[in-house]
Amino acid sequence: MSEAVIELNNLKKYFTINKGIGKKSYVKAVDGVTLTVNKGEIVGLVGESGSGKTTLARVVLNLTKPTDSEVIFNGVNLSKATKAEMKKFRSEVAVVFQDPASNLNPRDTVMNSIMRPMVLHGTPKKTAQKKAMEALEHVKMDSRYLNSYPHQLSGGQLQRIAIARALVLNPKVMILDEPTSALDISVQAQILNLLLDLQENFKLTYLVITHDLNVIRYISDRVAVMYLGKLVEYGPTEEVINNPKHPYTQGLMSASPILNPHDRNKEKYVMQGDPGSLINLPDGCHFHPRCPYATEKCIQEAPGNTILPNGHQVACFRV
Ligand SMILES: Nc1ncnc2c1ncn2[C@@H]1O[C@H](COP(=O)(O)OP(=O)(O)OP(=O)(O)O)[C@@H](O)[C@H]1O
Ligand SMILES: [Mg+2]
Repeated sequence: MSEAVIELNNLKKYFTINKGIGKKSYVKAVDGVTLTVNKGEIVGLVGESGSGKTTLARVVLNLTKPTDSEVIFNGVNLSKATKAEMKKFRSEVAVVFQDPASNLNPRDTVMNSIMRPMVLHGTPKKTAQKKAMEALEHVKMDSRYLNSYPHQLSGGQLQRIAIARALVLNPKVMILDEPTSALDISVQAQILNLLLDLQENFKLTYLVITHDLNVIRYISDRVAVMYLGKLVEYGPTEEVINNPKHPYTQGLMSASPILNPHDRNKEKYVMQGDPGSLINLPDGCHFHPRCPYATEKCIQEAPGNTILPNGHQVACFRV
């Protein structure tokens, strides 16, 4: 039986925006997401810009409170966690953001950057130094970089440092928000391979956010597809990529050229319309204005999740 590390059940995160005096409206950045990440697996979260991926990560990281429902981490409801449970949570979950430079303080040497989380957690300085050296080795960087400053390092090196820093508290879970998007393609591959090695060596669980389906295909066991605040499809990566059930996932697959180099001359299904906006959400299924199969029902009613026997989950009336 697989063990759930992160459990979300109908999780919501709304932001209030003022539209002038007395007028309020909501940005439903995360709107009823149900998702389980099991121990030792790599789950990819994919979706267009503005679909709510980073917001979801921030809620899971407890950087912002959910509007409704809660995050269950290793069986602990974070909204009711004790101080000791929160401390444990903070040491067990690490995060790496897209822009390596924003992960690190420009005035801190590599050594100080990597040591900071340990110092904050009360690790003695000597131990912290030793662990920082080890972490640098884990991310395959030479210890001569310990006294360098961020501006002296390349994007790939910075991302390695950010990963080393995330590793020092011996996390069980890493949340990686577009870990390779800012890097050039050969460096991307190196970082993805590094992440895969670390995951195996330290038995880590990953939630990887990306808009790049190639990254998802390369590293994740399961993939969740997000569209305007909702998960539209979730399942084993091969299954979702080879047999996408939601028209939005089909559109994403079709729009990803490198996934199907052999299909180059075949007629493609091109997704119509602009990525929708979270501010003026359509009624019914959020995807209906762009969906080639939309019916009257899709305009009026939002589809619930259908769970297929193989665990593949789809929010579409056609399934
Ligand atoms: N603090 C905030 N206050 C108000 N709105 C916010 C806040 N944070 C995020 N949003 C809104 O929530 C929506 C989702 O943003 P989010 O950053 O989660 O998207 P994303 O899927 O990560 O996009 P990208 O791929 O561009 O990183 C956006 O419309 C954004 O403007
Ligand atoms: Mg984002």
